[in-house]
Amino acid sequence: ADAETSRELDTTDLESLREQAAACRACPLWKDATQTVFGEGPEHAPLMLVGEQPGDKEDLAGHPFVGPAGQMLDRALAEAGIDRSKVYVTNAVKHFKFVPRGKIRLHQKPNTPEIKACRQWYERELAAVRPALVVALGATAAQSVLGKITPVNRSRGHVIDLPDGPKAMVTVHPSYLLRLPDADAKAREYERFVEDLKVAARAMK
Ligand code: URA
Repeated sequence: ADAETSRELDTTDLESLREQAAACRACPLWKDATQTVFGEGPEHAPLMLVGEQPGDKEDLAGHPFVGPAGQMLDRALAEAGIDRSKVYVTNAVKHFKFVPRGKIRLHQKPNTPEIKACRQWYERELAAVRPALVVALGATAAQSVLGKITPVNRSRGHVIDLPDGPKAMVTVHPSYLLRLPDADAKAREYERFVEDLKVAARAMK
């Protein structure tokens, strides 16, 4: 193929994927969101982290995990000895889903059709980055990464081999930690989260 054709067919280029995803209309979530929040990180990161969807802060900034959940994630990654700048960070769903409540925009869980419509972008990110390990943060990410509804609490912390793909692991979503009202439970669950990330740190090598 000539250079022009091969460039068009190069679906493994993250920058061209980002541009295509910016115009995605595969589900209705683009209508109310500010922008597509695509994944970010090194082209061949050994570890890919998958969240649920951008939150309020991410929707405005255009970057994944920059709000409160992102700060929790950064702290836990550092404690597990994982350098975030070496991780490819993305979301199962790439537009913010919310309902307006006065001045705030209240997060809504993406549904299965929305998760399925967006999975094409995750698949392309996976093909481009080819990480050794994918870690799904929470149930929505687990559904996308494992291709089926998976209970987080029963499967968390175990590294599995995906057919024709990378290794995968499920753990909780950092927002779950933020929502726990009891300080002791929060501290305990945070430690479990860090332990899961330490398992991931070993498995990505
Ligand atoms: N929660 C997510 O799942 N992803 C983000 O990017 C931010 C919050």
